[in-house]
Amino acid sequence: MNILEVKNLTQRFGELAAVDRLSFEVKDGEVFGIAGPNGSGKTTLFNSITGFYRYTGDVVFEGKSIAGLRPHQVCHRGIARTFQVPQLFLTMTVLKNLQVGAHFSKRHGVNEDDNIAEIVDFVGLHGKENIVTSHLNLYDQKLTMLANAMTTKPKLLMVDEPIGGLSPTETKDFLEIFKKINKELGITLVVIEHLMKFLTEISDRLMIIHDGSRIALGLPKEVTQEKNVIDVYLGGGVNA
Ligand SMILES: Nc1ncnc2c1ncn2[C@@H]1O[C@H](COP(=O)(O)OP(=O)(O)OP(=O)(O)O)[C@@H](O)[C@H]1O
Ligand SMILES: [Mg+2]
Repeated sequence: MNILEVKNLTQRFGELAAVDRLSFEVKDGEVFGIAGPNGSGKTTLFNSITGFYRYTGDVVFEGKSIAGLRPHQVCHRGIARTFQVPQLFLTMTVLKNLQVGAHFSKRHGVNEDDNIAEIVDFVGLHGKENIVTSHLNLYDQKLTMLANAMTTKPKLLMVDEPIGGLSPTETKDFLEIFKKINKELGITLVVIEHLMKFLTEISDRLMIIHDGSRIALGLPKEVTQEKNVIDVYLGGGVNA
């Protein structure tokens, strides 16, 4: 079954079609990877799906259109996202940030404090709840942003370049956390990432976009062998 269907999505900025009649489906329970050159429209695609931008075309989540919904409405349907650059309340503690996130989701019947405590343990932020987030290193800031998305109890989690700027060890730790989120919690993941080693290891299927259009979609080991993908993206030394 498809949890998400993107149909002919177009997002224009003036003359530029940053996302250009893009269609694809994400299956319930899978990890769906997205890669492509800088400026190919990956973040714009996330901003469109999650209601930050108006677009033409349609996005169907669990069988119902979410086109035209506001970000909080998309969140209430069960889609959460993280940002390329950590978006946190930097003068607030980790706990306060997560309380804001949990409140945003407003799921009836969920005990927010229990929910937050579970997520803090799950991602490995235990003991750091009372640290003001501006004092955290990049890794812990990214974990806090991830935890924040998790407090909304998503069915679909969309992460934009989650490991940019992290060390190889930190990257491995993040990989394990994402695998746990997908396998243990059953959350469907859509992951934008430049580091192909990471993306091919985590993804069940992989889509490559270029100039807002899809140029390849399939199993990671097949997609990364395709000539046009190598020419347009991998050959450029992105992952050298
Ligand atoms: N708010 C905006 N207004 C005008 N143009 C924009 C806006 N946001 C993005 N763009 C343009 O749309 C195109 C796609 O940008 P986008 O940020 O989606 O690319 P990306 O694939 O996420 O790139 P990167 O890998 O560098 O993060 C780029 O040409 C960018 O300059
Ligand atoms: Mg981007």
